[in-house]
Amino acid sequence: MKIVAFMNEKGGSGKTTCASNFATHLLRRGFKVVLVDADPQGTARDWFAAKPPEAKLPVVIALDRPQMLSAIATLDADYVIVDTPAKAADMAAAVIRIAHTVLVVIQPSGADIWACAPTVKMIKAKQDLGGKVDAAFLVNRSKPNTKLTKLVKEGEWNRYALEQLTATISDRTAFAQALTDGVSVYDTINADAKTDIDKVVAELEVARWL
Ligand SMILES: Nc1ncnc2c1ncn2[C@@H]1O[C@H](COP(=O)(O)OP(=O)(O)OP(=O)(O)O)[C@@H](O)[C@H]1O
Ligand SMILES: [Mg+2]
Repeated sequence: MKIVAFMNEKGGSGKTTCASNFATHLLRRGFKVVLVDADPQGTARDWFAAKPPEAKLPVVIALDRPQMLSAIATLDADYVIVDTPAKAADMAAAVIRIAHTVLVVIQPSGADIWACAPTVKMIKAKQDLGGKVDAAFLVNRSKPNTKLTKLVKEGEWNRYALEQLTATISDRTAFAQALTDGVSVYDTINADAKTDIDKVVAELEVARWL
């Protein structure tokens, strides 16, 4: 079982959006996937609750207290995708402890970049203690042809000693619409949105992080 967590203590960076579509991608490839909603806010659960019968989504379970995460070991899954809350250091620390792969989701803006510092620190602390966790930034809501996105993609801002995935998720209404409708972008006709997620998965597979 591989545990992949989507993190950033900054609210609204796109953790749930990325986690839900990433999990759905793997499910549609035939893997056994569970999406763990570690956020008491319950957006992933709301998403699943809004699911129309025809949509194919991973099962979402709530483990929204750090002490509950041990239940992950009992799940029958190839991949457990963890959607984490903002502003919850205890939960972040507990998730990093068990995760094999962490994607720190940032939007191309100073606010997101500054706010990720505590998460990155915790990842580094685990690695420095000899703990194994593969981690990278995932840029979400990138807007092609904007100076800010270009700067963030080039990585000049990145003084965190954490790599950045080459694949990025663009700012597309399809992502917001899918979350609202209780579907994934794979249930929509937006090929570009699907390709965004496909490329993130492919990059992790090439790196053998999945
Ligand atoms: N790539 C994207 N394109 C368009 N809209 C997006 C994208 N990513 C996220 N959004 C929108 O931004 C808002 C916040 O996204 P999301 O809920 O995924 O963030 P979050 O990090 O999980 O937030 P929280 O910290 O509150 O859990 C939502 O309205 C979502 O639809
Ligand atoms: Mg969320």
